[in-house]
Amino acid sequence: MSRSLHTLSLALALVGTLSACEGNRSDQPPVHVFIDMDFQQKFTAQERNDFFADHRAMRAPVEGTVAQGFLKDDDLFYRGRDLEGRLSNTLPEQIVLDEKLLKRGQERYDIYCAPCHDQAGHGTGPSTRRGGGFKVQPASFHQERLRPMPIGYFFDVITNGKGTMLPYNVQIPEADRWAIAVWVRALQIHGTNKGWDDTQGGAVAAAPEGK
Ligand code: HEC
Repeated sequence: MSRSLHTLSLALALVGTLSACEGNRSDQPPVHVFIDMDFQQKFTAQERNDFFADHRAMRAPVEGTVAQGFLKDDDLFYRGRDLEGRLSNTLPEQIVLDEKLLKRGQERYDIYCAPCHDQAGHGTGPSTRRGGGFKVQPASFHQERLRPMPIGYFFDVITNGKGTMLPYNVQIPEADRWAIAVWVRALQIHGTNKGWDDTQGGAVAAAPEGK
């Protein structure tokens, strides 16, 4: 064998060895010919970092951090409470009491509340009639204790739940919770869900028999 043939076979063997690396099973990391930016000095998600006492590379946001647009510092709109922290007797300024609001409230109420509280708010919705298994029956909004409640109270019950009733803050956005609260008040005033008399609009926010 000549010398040049030797060199050629050696070169071929080398190419064979290198190309065999890719796709073959091996416990060793693959041979990386072009490093490019494949290896960087950085921490990836969930990685350990002994620099910090808790050994987490991922750092939690500083306590009290609020995402942009999520401050929710308007207590009346977001929590139904006035400046003194009492449940409010008035609607927040973002909520305009008009026919549109009432229609929206009625529609949302019929979807979210009527199955238990019924469309007129007596607490006898279809789910109570089919052996619904309620330990405590859904409340009637026409009972003496609930009639004088401030409008913020209904917003609060929808937001945080009450007793055995679960909260609806995840399912129902704030503006719709207000619309529903207004509709509950409208039911209290009317006693039924039969239409809406515009002349009573102003009385909706205040308790029907203002105590
Ligand atoms: C799955 C059935 C169910 C649904 C849906 C439901 N509620 Fe209730 N609600 C109840 C029950 C049960 C109670 C009584 C809870 C208790 O006293 O432990 C109650 C109580 C209440 C009370 C009275 C709280 C008090 O002070 O006694 C209000 C007000 C109320 N619900 C409003 C609503 C509104 C508004 C909606 C719709 C957003 C709604 N509920 C949806 C079952 C339901």
